Amino acid sequence: MSAEPLEIHLEEQDLDRALREDVRVGLTASPKWLPPKWFYDARGSELFEEITRLPEYYPTRAERAALAAHADDVAAMTGAKTLIELGSGSSEKTRLLLDAFTRQGGLGTFVPLDVSVSALRSSTERIAAAYPGLRVRGIVGDFTRHLDRLPTGGRRLVAFLGGTIGNLLPAERAGFLAATRAALEAGDWLLVGTDLVKDPGVVVPAYDDAAGVTAEFNRNVLRVVNRELGADFDVEAFRHVAVWDPEREWIEMRLRAERPTRVRVAALGLDVAFAAGEELRTEVSAKFRPAGIAAELAGAGFVRQAFWTDPDGLFGVSLARAD
Ligand code: SAH
Ligand code: AVI
Repeated sequence: MSAEPLEIHLEEQDLDRALREDVRVGLTASPKWLPPKWFYDARGSELFEEITRLPEYYPTRAERAALAAHADDVAAMTGAKTLIELGSGSSEKTRLLLDAFTRQGGLGTFVPLDVSVSALRSSTERIAAAYPGLRVRGIVGDFTRHLDRLPTGGRRLVAFLGGTIGNLLPAERAGFLAATRAALEAGDWLLVGTDLVKDPGVVVPAYDDAAGVTAEFNRNVLRVVNRELGADFDVEAFRHVAVWDPEREWIEMRLRAERPTRVRVAALGLDVAFAAGEELRTEVSAKFRPAGIAAELAGAGFVRQAFWTDPDGLFGVSLARAD
C-alpha cells in the first residue's frame, strides 16, 4: 500500500503565526529563549538524523537496544490495532515495533505525527513500501496542540520515542501527558522513551560532539528564523553551548553571542540586541529517574505496566495503560 496523502493539521499560515509568536515572546524575554520545535525544517531534520549516528550520542542506540529486546512484549501486551507515533521523525526505531506487530498480526494502521513535513513525507513513503499490509496515515501536527485530533476506535498505542518528552518543560510535560490521556480511552496504551539521569561526563559530550554536528543543529534555528521571518541573525556570531543543570537534571542547549550583535526580525518589526556573552536558550533535554517517570504517568491517569532499559541502563522505555 502506498502512504495516504498527509493530513495537514498545521497549515503554512498556522506555522507562520506560531513561529512569529514564539520569536516575539522568546527574543523579548530575559533570558532569551526559543522553543526547540523550530529546529526541524528539512535541514534540521537531516542534522538530527546525523546526530543519532554520532559516537557520543548514545540515546538512539540505547533506546533501539531496549526496543529490540522488548518489541514483542509491547505487541503482545497491548494487542494494538492502531499505532500512533508522536514526533515520529524518520520512524526508524519504530520499525522494531512494526516488525513485532507484523509477527503477531492485528495491527492495521500506523499514524505518525510530526511538525516536520519533510521528515514525515519521506518516512511515510518508506514505511508504506516496507509494510505493504499496513495503512499509513501521516499527520502534520503539533503534539502540544493537536492531540484531540488523533484517530479514534480500536485498541490504540501511542508511542513517543527518542526522549522527546524531555524537550518539554515540566509544566508542558504535565499538560502533554494529561492531553494524551484525554485523547485515549481506558485500556489504550502509551509507550514513552526517556533518557535516564547519568554521569554528566557522558551526557555533555552527547550534546557537544567533537564533529560539531550538534552545534550546526543548534544554529539551524537561527537560519529558520532568518528565512521564515526575514531576520538577519549573523549565525556565525553565535557559539553552541551545552550545560548540565544538576538541580533540574536536564541539559540545556544555548547559543552564546560571541560579540555584541543586533538582530532585526523584519516580519515582526522587531530589533533585538545581544550583549557579548549573552545566551539564547534553544532546548532543554530532561533526564529522568525510573520512579519519577512512573509518578508522572500516574499523575496523568496512566498505570505503568513495564519499564525496560538497554543493557547499560542509559535509556528507559515505559509501557503504561490508560486507567
Ligand atoms: N522519534 C524520533 C525523532 C526524534 S527528533 C526518534 O526517536 O529518533 C524529535 C521529532 O519531534 C522531530 O521529528 C521533530 O520534528 C518533532 N517535533 C518536535 N516538536 C514537535 C511538536 N511540538 N509537535 C510535533 N512534532 C514535533
Ligand atoms: C529529539 N530530542 C530527544 C533530542 C534530545 O536529545 O533532546 C534533540 C537533540 N538535541 C541535541 N541533540 C539531540
